[in-house]
Formats: sequence, structure tokens, C-alpha cells
Amino acid sequence: MNIFLNKYISIMRILLAIMFLFLFVSCSKANENYENYIKNNPPKYEEVIFYYDDFDINNGEKKFITLTCSNCHSREDNVIIGPGLKNIYKKGDNYILRSILYPDEYILEGYKNLMPNIYKNESRKDIEDIIAYIKTFK
Ligand code: HEC
Repeated sequence: MNIFLNKYISIMRILLAIMFLFLFVSCSKANENYENYIKNNPPKYEEVIFYYDDFDINNGEKKFITLTCSNCHSREDNVIIGPGLKNIYKKGDNYILRSILYPDEYILEGYKNLMPNIYKNESRKDIEDIIAYIKTFK
């Protein structure tokens, strides 16, 4: 009986270890895809610099609506057409800026290339204010 129980416990341990490994791999995959993408397309990738260092978050909030970002992006983590932007600040300023200016350069896994490629024509100040605003989604 005891031997049986011991076997059962060790099988459960192995299963648990596999589950954790799977969880870890799936969490790190998104970032890994992006990093591989950059590695394979170095000429496309450049650090985009910010022009301003004073941000108007209220203007960012307004532009997030008038430039229709809010039609596709929630402030939480639910999907509308695009991914929810909760915790987007974790991906870094440069990633966020590039996602807006060159949306078809890197397509997030599981999504289609539906983000309009028009925002590089907008006022740079507005775009940077939007970034300051969406970085408050936590
Ligand atoms: C018509 C729908 C649509 C509109 C409008 C739109 N987006 Fe997107 N956006 C998407 C989709 C779909 C993706 C995921 C596919 C991809 O990577 O391009 C995305 C991706 C992103 C990402 C990367 C998200 C991540 O987790 O890596 C950011 C940041 C972003 N959008 C910000 C914005 C901002 C800011 C605006 C407004 C200036 C905007 N989007 C307007 C659909 C949209």
C-alpha cells in the first residue's frame, strides 16, 4: 500500500514539474519571439528616440480616444480587436513607440495585422503623450 502511495506521489511530482515547465515556456515565448524577430531583421530595427520629455497625460487620454486606439484596445487585459494594454509599460518605451509608428513590423502572436499604419503621420507630441498615458494602465 505504502509503495503504491509513494509511486503515486512521485508521478504527481513529475507531472507538476512538467506543468511548471510548460507554464514557464509559454510565458517567455512572446518575448522570445520578439527578440528572435529583431535578431533576424536587424536592418529594420532601430532604436526610436523620444523627442519630448514633458508628457501631458490628459492630452494622451484624449488622443487615445480620438485617434481610435480605444476602439481596439482596452485599458485592462481583455481583447477587443487588439490586445488589452494593461501592463504594456513592461515592454519598454522603444517597443511601444515602434508598435505605434510601425505596427506591421512585428505582429503579436495570435493577432492579425489589423492595426492601422497611419500614426507616424500624427503629431509626435500626441503620440508621446499617448504612450505616457497607456503606461499608466496597471
Ligand atoms: C483597428 C484596430 C486598432 C487600432 C485602431 C489600434 N490598434 Fe494597436 N493593435 C491592434 C492589433 C490587432 C494589435 C496586435 C497586432 C500587432 O502586433 O500589430 C495591436 C498592437 C498594439 C500594441 C502592441 C501590444 C503588445 O502587447 O505588444 C500597442 C502598444 C498598440 N497596439 C497601441 C495602439 C495605440 C496607442 C493606438 C492608437 C494610436 C492603436 N494601437 C490603435 C489593433 C489596433
